[in-house]
Amino acid sequence: MNTLDAMLTRTSQGKLGFPAPGPEVLNKAFACALRAPDHRVLRPWRYLVIEGEGLQKLGELLVAASLAETADLTPEVIDRLQKMPFRAPMIVVAITVYKDDPKAPPEEQLLSMGAAVQNFLLALHDQGFASMWRSGSITGNPHLKKGLGVAAHESIAGFVYVGTASAEPRKITPLSVADFVSAWQG
Ligand SMILES: Cc1cc2nc3c(=O)[nH]c(=O)nc-3n(C[C@H](O)[C@H](O)[C@H](O)COP(=O)(O)O)c2cc1C
Repeated sequence: MNTLDAMLTRTSQGKLGFPAPGPEVLNKAFACALRAPDHRVLRPWRYLVIEGEGLQKLGELLVAASLAETADLTPEVIDRLQKMPFRAPMIVVAITVYKDDPKAPPEEQLLSMGAAVQNFLLALHDQGFASMWRSGSITGNPHLKKGLGVAAHESIAGFVYVGTASAEPRKITPLSVADFVSAWQG
């Protein structure tokens, strides 16, 4: 698949099953993520890969972290949180690692993280795998951050659910470029 086709055909896939990508495919996708534009070469990114038993533990952490914020969650909500990570065989947590720099403020570092995640999604797509970038309000939860080892100078950019598409890709309705682009001549 060429780059343009990858960008034009990638869609998020909520229904993800086995197999997850193996080490070779995953390494290639991370190598692409590491090619994101990066003002001042700060490398403001790191990733956690969660699979197998880790998904169960992530579910337990989501429950504990949510209960720490809201003690009266219903059993249905607790059950949903516990099962959430099992929506894919693999989850990659993208973490922005903010660095002190006089010329690249935190916003630029977050933009770099966004570009890195997009590279990652495209590289998975190119190699025949599907994904969905999710966040939800939980990403800022301090108990979740602590449980995942996310430090004070870091933030969770998202949970990338990764696997094999188990449903047809969503039909893409192309947007009109003219609605978003205009010439400026001063
Ligand atoms: C930072 C970020 C966080 C997101 N979080 C969620 C989320 O929690 N739940 C969700 O349904 N979609 C979320 N999305 C949107 C999906 O990843 C996806 O982009 C959207 O459903 C459009 O689908 P497409 O990628 O096929 O165009 C998020 C996107 C971004 C960029």
